[in-house]
Amino acid sequence: MPAYLRRYFLKKINVFSWDVRDFQGVVLLESHNFDTMELISSQEIIERIKHGEIVVIRRCLQNIAMHDTVVAEILRALMIVCNEGAVSYVKKHGIEKIHEVLPAKSLSKFYEETEKVIPELALNIMARFNFFTLARRTPFYVETGPNIRMMYPYDVMSRELVSLRHLAKTIGRGKVTLHGPHQDSWFFHAFNTVNLWCAIGHVSEFNGLTFYPTMWGKQLACNEKQEIDPHYHLGRGITFNLEPGDVLLFMADQIHASTINQTDKTRLIISMRMTFEKPDYYKNFCYYDFRRVKFFSHNHRMKAKVQRFPHPRFFLARSKGFKRGIIPPATEIPLSKNQYLKTRSGNDPSIIVFRSTDLVHNETRPLSDSICVARYDDRVMAFNRFCPHEGADLATGIIKDSTILCPWHGLRFDSTTGKSLCQSIKPLTFFKCHENGEWIEVHTQRGGV
Ligand code: FES
Ligand SMILES: [Fe+2]
Repeated sequence: MPAYLRRYFLKKINVFSWDVRDFQGVVLLESHNFDTMELISSQEIIERIKHGEIVVIRRCLQNIAMHDTVVAEILRALMIVCNEGAVSYVKKHGIEKIHEVLPAKSLSKFYEETEKVIPELALNIMARFNFFTLARRTPFYVETGPNIRMMYPYDVMSRELVSLRHLAKTIGRGKVTLHGPHQDSWFFHAFNTVNLWCAIGHVSEFNGLTFYPTMWGKQLACNEKQEIDPHYHLGRGITFNLEPGDVLLFMADQIHASTINQTDKTRLIISMRMTFEKPDYYKNFCYYDFRRVKFFSHNHRMKAKVQRFPHPRFFLARSKGFKRGIIPPATEIPLSKNQYLKTRSGNDPSIIVFRSTDLVHNETRPLSDSICVARYDDRVMAFNRFCPHEGADLATGIIKDSTILCPWHGLRFDSTTGKSLCQSIKPLTFFKCHENGEWIEVHTQRGGV
């Protein structure tokens, strides 16, 4: 059976029974409310994520006694696909170094191995999470196809892009390849889906997930790749540094994107989805295999059996391919910031001149079809408008910590050299700028800052 089908046909998933003694102590909760980090109670979590917040639960997997189990299963799969030496290497240097022993061409086999056990583990995580972390005793619904997401350092990934893209065709985007800004409901997930994004190894703001919370609640149009239409200005993205076992909790309708891995470490996480109420699909169309999980008793033990069988319409929808327009088009397009600067014509057509006061601090604006400008620390910069990675419009990007940050996969370019941390990606080209009182000149034919 091909891997794609195997993913949707599992015979049976048994949720283990467990004893409350497994539960180890205090659950630390944090909520990211755009700018402030604060402690919140478990009762508040559900309400808050439904209102567009992103919650970080520190050491969640350890507290529900699942972190070591997941790591053990990953090492078991590594042993089967590679050898004992590979396992010892990872144990010694950390799971983030797995790319040094597991070549990209073996990832397909690795995924096959993990898929034999991860669905059951994910169900356990969701059950324990509901029972212990959220203290819920009511039934909930789970999507029975969890994901391991193993994002190799981009410089490693770029050497293996062909095989990784091939693998992504069967297992989906965002697992071994990058996924630009999107909402999960564009991929047939229910609108009220809650994502649990669980760090197995360390995750940093240079290889994790970017959220665009100021877009929360806006109905945005997507392109034919089911990513946000690149003309939107998505606002300041937020990212998180996570320790192993930390969990991010957010609504699947929250706009999010993979951050390109600018580190030398693999970002390894598992993600899963559930709903607290009945799954709410676009036009009531049930695309995914959701199952209701019930707590059978109140003595801190739970048993559940889940028979997986996807709805035939799911396969029908998949076979027709994803079509633009599954979700109604946007009603609001916040493109105002993206307006071209007004320019003045001069004698030399290779010099573009604009009014100094038109570009405010920390702002990026398009100057022409190929150049954009930004002002940072009283310095004006002009550079290539399109990202050398996959061509996103940097005129909708932002300046962060003296870097130019691409809105698409969060790659950061040094504002002085144009280089990023990914050596396999070309640096940004700068154009000479000259601020002369009221006016700024951009020399479009000469490189250099
Ligand atoms: S980081 Fe991917 S397009 Fe810019
Ligand atoms: Fe997603």
